[in-house]
Formats: sequence, structure tokens, C-alpha cells
Amino acid sequence: MANRSVRVAVNGYGVIGKRVADAINAQPDMELVGVADVVSDYRMKVAEALGLPIYAALPEKVDEMRASGLTIQGALDDLLKRIDVIVDCTPKGIGARNLERYRGAKIRSIFQGGEKHALTGHSFVAQANYTSALGRESTRVVSCNTTSIVRTLSALRDAGLLKKARGVLVRRATDPWESDHSGVMNTVVPEKSVPSHQGPDAQSVIPELDVVTIAMVAAHTTSHLHAWSVELTREATKDDVLAAFRAAPRIAFLRASDGIVALNSTSELMADLGRPRGDMWEVGLWEDSLTVTGNEVFYTYQVYNQAIVVPETIDAVRALTELERDSFESIAMTDRALGVTRQFIN
Ligand SMILES: NC(=O)c1ccc[n+]([C@@H]2O[C@H](COP(=O)([O-])OP(=O)(O)OC[C@H]3O[C@@H](n4cnc5c(N)ncnc54)[C@H](O)[C@@H]3O)[C@@H](O)[C@H]2O)c1
Repeated sequence: MANRSVRVAVNGYGVIGKRVADAINAQPDMELVGVADVVSDYRMKVAEALGLPIYAALPEKVDEMRASGLTIQGALDDLLKRIDVIVDCTPKGIGARNLERYRGAKIRSIFQGGEKHALTGHSFVAQANYTSALGRESTRVVSCNTTSIVRTLSALRDAGLLKKARGVLVRRATDPWESDHSGVMNTVVPEKSVPSHQGPDAQSVIPELDVVTIAMVAAHTTSHLHAWSVELTREATKDDVLAAFRAAPRIAFLRASDGIVALNSTSELMADLGRPRGDMWEVGLWEDSLTVTGNEVFYTYQVYNQAIVVPETIDAVRALTELERDSFESIAMTDRALGVTRQFIN
């Protein structure tokens, strides 16, 4: 159990940033020093209502944000002087421009999956490579889909069952908050090349994975659906495979027999369980349809893209700062604080 506290800030208070900020606040060993952004709309007004210290991420935004009525504590450079770690949750490509700034301020930095692996030279999924992130200056938490792939395939690998994996990803069109102006409608759009980037991205965490992904975008906003066909190292039973998934963190089972028959049913379940924002941090894997034939297993799971990377980001803070050197301890601490489970309902 860690006995000190690190000072953390979030740059980019959007879909991922606001969830990361809440998750930092929930940890016993972290202090959320502030959040930075460039907008003055309802997002920052909520941050203010929640009592979070707000900073302007760009110096030229300070006056504009103050003029909107927000209380601004200063610019990003002021915030960087007060913290040990920054979690950059800005839109794809902006994080890359911020790394030198963080480096200049001599703080550690965590980026999200929209940035490239090459930016930090390290891509992170807690259960797979926590140790290699210990003490690093920076890392990148991989995307939502890649996080789910690494969680599930490393569960099978750790049980000695994984030979090769082939997956089809049906991605959501856009996030709900921006569905007034983006996202496809009444169609399904296959990606132009195979493999889609998620397979190679999973190999940036576990290089030896034999994995190929095919992806498409569909006309809905509620999360992603994966369908996997995995060749095992030996003939196995359904119980062997379920036991492998049960032994791994952050995978929980959904059951059609409980009425959880589609992406929308899970959203309802999470909301009814009182999850903040109706979030599912776990990979939600359908237990009843999982099928094993000889040395092959077939299964589907749901990835709540807005939430799945949040626990990984918290673990990345502990790994970079060496607040906790043991991955299992960090994962347990994060999961306890958030309410991550392996069983949604009995
Ligand atoms: N949305 C998802 O499902 C999801 C899942 C996993 C990973 N990610 C990754 O997380 C990162 C953030 O994505 P998001 O969906 O939260 O984006 P978002 O658009 O919801 O939020 C980004 C926030 O950053 C702010 N911003 C814009 N320019 C800025 C700047 N120069 N400095 C500071 N803040 C700035 C925006 O105002 C917004 O509040 C991306 O790398 C993305 O690929 C997103």
C-alpha cells in the first residue's frame, strides 16, 4: 500500500479528461490539483460547479475564459509548476505538441490513445506491462479498443491458452455529446485496410501477439462491439476459457439470459447499477454465447469506449511516479476506489 500522495492535473477536460479527473479524486494516494482546457462552455462550468481549480491551457484563452464568468487560476504553465504528473486528454495530435512543454517543466506525462506510440516510446495496459513503465518520464495509455484486446488476449495468454486471435470490431460512429454534428447515419463503413490499427497497436504493448483485426464504423453512439475467433494452444473446455477470463482483472461477464442482449441493454444495466455517467470500465464479455470447439473459442464483448481507459490511466500515474511498484496492488487500489467489478449481477 502506497503511503504518499502525488499531485496530478488533467489537460483537456472532455470525454476522457472529465472521467480521469473524477477517478483521480477518488484515489486515496492522489491529489487533483487542477484541470486545464480552452473552452468556456458547459463543460468548464460543470468543472467549476464541482469545485475543480480551472486553468487556461493556452495563455491567449485566459481573458476569454475569465470574461465568460469562469474563475481561472492561471495558465497551464502555472499549473505545471504545482504538479508531479499531467494526464493529457486533449484531442488527437494536440498531446504530441505538449510533450516538450511537460518535459521543460520536469514533470511526468501520460497521453491517450489518439497519440502515436512513437511519442513516448511506451504504450501502457496495466495488467500487461505495468513494470516496464516504472519511473518512466512518459507513457501512452492505448485506445479503448486496444485496451480491451490486450486485457482479453493477455488473460488467455497468461492461462497458456493463446495461439492466435482474429477479431472484428464494430465501432460506434461518434460520442453522444457530439452526435449533433458528427457520425455516420443509416450505414456501416468498413475500414479501407486490413489489419485495422488496433491489432498492431496491441502489439505495441505485447509484441509477440499473433493478432489481426478488421474494423468498421456503424451508425450508433453506444460503445463498441467486438467478435473474436481465437485459436488455442490446445483443446479446451468452455470452463477453461471462462476461468482464464475470470482470473484477469477488469473483465466482467454479461448474460443474454439476464436480458442483456445488446449494447443498449448494458447501458441500461450500468445506469441502473448507479455507475457514474452509466460507465462500464470493464470489458463486458457475453458468457452464455462464448463457444469452444476443440482448440477454437468464439466470443463477443462490449467496450464502453468513454470509460475503459480510465482505470489504466490511474495505474499509469502510479507506475510513472513509482507510487506503487506492484501492478496487482495498483490495479486493486484503483478498482476498489472506482468500484470496478468482475461480476455486475449474480
Ligand atoms: N472518446 C473516446 O471514446 C476515447 C476513448 C479512448 C481514448 N480516447 C483518446 O483520448 C483523447 C481525448 O479524447 P476525447 O474523446 O476525450 O476528446 P474530447 O474532444 O471529448 O475532449 C478533448 C478536450 O480537450 C480540449 N482541448 C482542445 N484543445 C485543447 C488544447 N490545446 N489544450 C487543452 N485542451 C484542449 C477540448 O476543449 C475538450 O474539452 C484522444 O487522444 C482520444 O483519441 C478517446
